[in-house]
Amino acid sequence: MFNKLLKRNTEVVLKDKDRLVLIPNEEIPAHIAIIMDGNGRWAKKRSLPRIAGHHEGMKTVRKVTKLANELGVGVLTLYAFSTENWKRPKIEVDFLMRLPEEFLTTFLPELIEENVRVEMMGYQQNLPSHTLKAINKAKEATKDNTGLVLNFALNYGSRSEIVDAVKDIAKQVAEGTLEISDINEDLISSGLMTKGLPEPDLLIRTSGEVRLSNFMLWQLAYTEFWFTETLWPDFNEESLLEAIKIYQKRNRRYGGLKGDEVK
Ligand code: FPP
Repeated sequence: MFNKLLKRNTEVVLKDKDRLVLIPNEEIPAHIAIIMDGNGRWAKKRSLPRIAGHHEGMKTVRKVTKLANELGVGVLTLYAFSTENWKRPKIEVDFLMRLPEEFLTTFLPELIEENVRVEMMGYQQNLPSHTLKAINKAKEATKDNTGLVLNFALNYGSRSEIVDAVKDIAKQVAEGTLEISDINEDLISSGLMTKGLPEPDLLIRTSGEVRLSNFMLWQLAYTEFWFTETLWPDFNEESLLEAIKIYQKRNRRYGGLKGDEVK
């Protein structure tokens, strides 16, 4: 659909048949995080098994990654599996654990060619070895790439992540290597799995659900949220552009005031 990037650096011009969409480059979010929801409902509407929805959702991952990379987004974090998702039926969990493998087997050559770097955040110890193997292979093959960081949140849970960071800090205090007065926001941020990444500028959740579901609770403190009724398998390049355009109109104040608001 959007197959042509006509001009780079100053502005991005995407050609959609008769329509041009302009997005000034400097306002492209550095980090977009997405809660990809609605795969099950997409499948149910078509009388298909839930896993068919996840499989279709994988194709959306490809589309969104490609466009985000072309637009100059720095990081795209995708919530692919939460620490709570293990409660789902085994057949669904098994399928979800195979998806990163299928995605990476199919698309790794393209990701390499497009300069995308694959990353993962989440608890590795409970993941099947075949899933980890596919992820580690992709991480290794793309480690020197300098384009979009495609960050899969897999077996990720924000509360556990915060608890772990707090435990680590408490241990350092108990051992006498850290003063309580040295505990600050930066220290906590650096104990999280997003260490080194910018905080998300834009959070997208699809399918009409309006909640965070234990996703990046600390990191989203000043993030702009955008919720859409679109189910994840139906989300496409146009949806991402819509989200970014809405983000560009937001007035981010970080708790303060802007320019002429100060009187
Ligand atoms: C939520 O929809 C979605 C998930 C728990 C899985 C998300 C995974 C993908 C989109 C595929 C990931 C692809 C790769 C490459 C890792 P849901 O099942 O809760 O939908 P529902 O609310 O309609 O039931």
